[in-house]
Amino acid sequence: MHNAGLIARYREHLPVSDTTRIITLNEGSTPLVAAPALGAALHPKLEVYLKYEGLNPTGSFKDRGMTMAITKALEEGYEMVMCASTGNTSASAAAYAARAGIKCIVLIPQGKIALGKLSQAMVHGAQVIQIHGNFDEALTLVRKICENFPVALVNSINPFRIEGQKTGAFEILDDFGGVAPDFQCMPVGNAGNITAYWKGYREYHALGKSDGLPRMMGFQAAGSAPIVLGHPVLEPHTFATAIRIGNPASWKTAEEARDQSGGMIDMVTDDEIRDAYKLVARTEGIFCEPASAASIAGLAKLSREGFFDTVTPRQGDRIRVICILTGHGLKDPDNAIAAASEPYTVEPKEEQILELLGFSPALV
Ligand code: F0G
Repeated sequence: MHNAGLIARYREHLPVSDTTRIITLNEGSTPLVAAPALGAALHPKLEVYLKYEGLNPTGSFKDRGMTMAITKALEEGYEMVMCASTGNTSASAAAYAARAGIKCIVLIPQGKIALGKLSQAMVHGAQVIQIHGNFDEALTLVRKICENFPVALVNSINPFRIEGQKTGAFEILDDFGGVAPDFQCMPVGNAGNITAYWKGYREYHALGKSDGLPRMMGFQAAGSAPIVLGHPVLEPHTFATAIRIGNPASWKTAEEARDQSGGMIDMVTDDEIRDAYKLVARTEGIFCEPASAASIAGLAKLSREGFFDTVTPRQGDRIRVICILTGHGLKDPDNAIAAASEPYTVEPKEEQILELLGFSPALV
């Protein structure tokens, strides 16, 4: 089936009308990839699936929210949109604004944006403003400016962003024929996405399109874990820059998702995230960005701690877990190279290569 984008696919669940001009890059309908090797490496009872959101048009899940946010901004007559970002939102906003033919301004924390994301915002022609400050400070400024000037705010406090992002849950349930997974693991930064998924799961359930609800398991980076600690973190830090956020805008709704679903919000260290990032790349051939790997790091942590030992699966004999891989690994080439070992450099001579491979030239 031709993928005409998620508004076309889930139109009846979204606030658009027949006359709305839809701004789309044919986002959504991302693969739900079975991860048997990863599951087996973590816990014998697990059946793990990866929702590969890095395959959206700009390489992250933000496109789900942005198709709605830009579509609605245009419908409401805005000619300018603005966001604060740790990178992916700015890349997505820049691309969709370009497609809509409107102006995009992005505020980013200077020096804390992965290279791929910065290059996207720049190439799509957004006005990129770096601040000597963090994401939370950038978002405070953007909120204030958008309140007082004719500029549409396209961060996830914009309810249309949440509407678009909830379709991730619809896709998972549609892929499983309406059988809800036992658990969903996902990274938590500004906490819009966990809010959106929970909304999507509840809506499908209320419509009788799913047989239950998953437990929502959110993971913050240990240096940026305000929800886990119960207070804002003034100077958040983590190498997973996408979730380097100390005061999430959707804090309360993230806690609701956690509490209503019987889930949890926990934290994982940078070392745990790095290990998970390499593990999924090497066991399943899937390259995600560091923040995305927090979902797998969290799953690994729970597995190690024996959390699943006493869990009864909703159906069958295995516990079905979805990990949301929110962004593509190519977004952040610096961290990818830092996490791997240096390539060998040799002369263009067969012997040198054979020697590296451990093959003896004498045997040829
Ligand atoms: N994963 C990635 C790759 C992200 O870019 C983000 C957020 C998250 C997870 C967390 O999602 O904020 O909804 O809890 N990135 C935002 C941005 C903050 O500006 O790109 P969340």
